[in-house]
Amino acid sequence: MSRPIAFIGGGNMARSLIGGLIRQGHAGHQIHVSEPNADLRETLARDFGVVAHALNDAAARLADIWVLAVKPQVMATVLAELAPVAVDQAPLVVSIAAGVTHGRIADVLGPGARVVRTMPNTPAMIGAGITGLYAGADVGAAERVAVEALFASAGATVWIADEMQMDAVTAVSGSGPAYFFLLIEALVAAGARQGLPTDTAARLALHTALGAARMVIESGEEVALLRQRVTSPGGTTAAALDVFVQGGFPELVDQAVAAATRRGRELTQCVG
Ligand SMILES: NC(=O)c1ccc[n+]([C@@H]2O[C@H](COP(=O)([O-])OP(=O)(O)OC[C@H]3O[C@@H](n4cnc5c(N)ncnc54)[C@H](OP(=O)(O)O)[C@@H]3O)[C@@H](O)[C@H]2O)c1
Repeated sequence: MSRPIAFIGGGNMARSLIGGLIRQGHAGHQIHVSEPNADLRETLARDFGVVAHALNDAAARLADIWVLAVKPQVMATVLAELAPVAVDQAPLVVSIAAGVTHGRIADVLGPGARVVRTMPNTPAMIGAGITGLYAGADVGAAERVAVEALFASAGATVWIADEMQMDAVTAVSGSGPAYFFLLIEALVAAGARQGLPTDTAARLALHTALGAARMVIESGEEVALLRQRVTSPGGTTAAALDVFVQGGFPELVDQAVAAATRRGRELTQCVG
């Protein structure tokens, strides 16, 4: 992907996507970033050789792919600034802002802009994220490939066909890292209560979490099948899983994800 790209907002998420593009061989001088914070502008230009701008329209005029990487609260201001530029540039616009709908961006930027709404998660910062993607019907196949390439170094990507599903994406993968952190915290504490030094329990729990996820991904096998295979009747794993099931663990996860989806929907209505 060698077309010029403009990042509107040069914060954490922009930085990790820019780092990934540079690692993929994208030329720094083809990447424009607008960012109000002068220190951040200087750091991004120094670290990646990108062209940093103080004004959003200055960056946007030099690219036909725009990545909107600002907080949802400032999106209204940013879209109003960019609307006149969108008429001239007819850009492909990729938003990573949580809760800001495709329709809102498309309405303000006008019919020239093709819009893709995305939801990355925090492990994207270390290249181990997953990003949910939703494109309007006017986004072509080549543009979808360009968007996938943009997120490739941040981890995996998955397209959703219906924007309504974005709140569920947020509930599963956007908020998901915290669920696993909670489970790991609980597992470490439980291991310590069974007599392990805390750092040993932490090492055991963390590598088990990593290994379990990698096993599912790399084997391509059904997760339920892998679980059954490590659960001998009458064994230790069966003893623990019985307690999880008796305690309503699957139902609790279901309720938690439903609550996150509901909350996502409410927040989308506030900022969307
Ligand atoms: N971090 C994640 O894992 C994650 C996951 C999913 C979605 N997202 C979404 O990604 C977006 C960016 O998140 P982030 O974590 O990268 O936030 P961030 O570090 O705060 O980055 C946002 C940047 O935008 C700058 N900015 C503020 N007002 C601006 C304006 N009017 N024009 C241009 N730039 C402006 C901010 O500068 P100042 O600091 O000077 O205000 C800041 O550097 C958010 O919408 C968030 O919902 C993030």
